[in-house]
Amino acid sequence: MTYSSSTQAVPQPRAVPRHIAIIMDGNGRWATKRMLPRVAGHVKGVDAVRGVVEACMLRGVEYLTLFAFSSENWRRPADEVSLLMRLFVTALEREVAKMHANSIRLKVVGDLSRFDAKLQELIVNAERKTANNSKLTVTICANYGGRWDIMQAINKMIAADGKGHAYTEEQLNPHLAMAYAPEPDLFIRTGGEERISNFLLWQLAYTELFFTETYWPDFDVGALDIAIDSFQQRERRFGRTSEQLLTQKKAS
Ligand code: IPE
Ligand code: IPE
Ligand code: MG
Repeated sequence: MTYSSSTQAVPQPRAVPRHIAIIMDGNGRWATKRMLPRVAGHVKGVDAVRGVVEACMLRGVEYLTLFAFSSENWRRPADEVSLLMRLFVTALEREVAKMHANSIRLKVVGDLSRFDAKLQELIVNAERKTANNSKLTVTICANYGGRWDIMQAINKMIAADGKGHAYTEEQLNPHLAMAYAPEPDLFIRTGGEERISNFLLWQLAYTELFFTETYWPDFDVGALDIAIDSFQQRERRFGRTSEQLLTQKKAS
């Protein structure tokens, strides 16, 4: 079944969120703070996933979507990437039977073609095994990027049309309404709501977000400076690790 989009129909309000999407960020810093290798943070991160999945089941959440590996995370050191892949394999080997017993449907979303054959096979099998479960749908976004998603959707649409072309992000970029401008570096929203609300979705892929309670009429130069100050404190990693940025800075 396909749900209607929030711009086509207003979703029903609910006390418990029906779908929770989480960017599971901070594993590396968690470990570094404890003088542990980054991998220790990723291992601990898997435990946290287990806890959140259980909590969502108890609360009646229907969809839990977890960003586990972005299309930019390939930019990390090769040993970290391969450890993440191995963790993914062991997590699937260990958890799928339990998930199935709990009536959880598992989906893995992203460009899976870049994963090795064993991991791809585990994913296909896990999805197949749990396909008819209906208590909670857990989606793992792996080698996922919002832009990849938009492009693959456009290309599927074109293919269904029978014309047979396929397009890339680079080919779409010049046709966007704001092709004359670089992507925003900083996004600010006044008035206290913390949402993107369908604004510049494509272009906001890696923009730093700043939310303030200040109402727009009160948003003066001082308030702007606070936002810019906040922006200046950010470390723009674009998928890489802090350590890689430091090494790059030292080299230049
Ligand atoms: C998120 O934690 C996990 C992945 C991206 C795979 P990080 O590894 O990004 O942790 P930080 O951001 O460096 O602390
Ligand atoms: C985002 O985390 C992706 C995942 C949690 C899988 P990153 O740690 O890769 O994000 P950036 O690079 O700091 O923006
Ligand atoms: Mg991170």
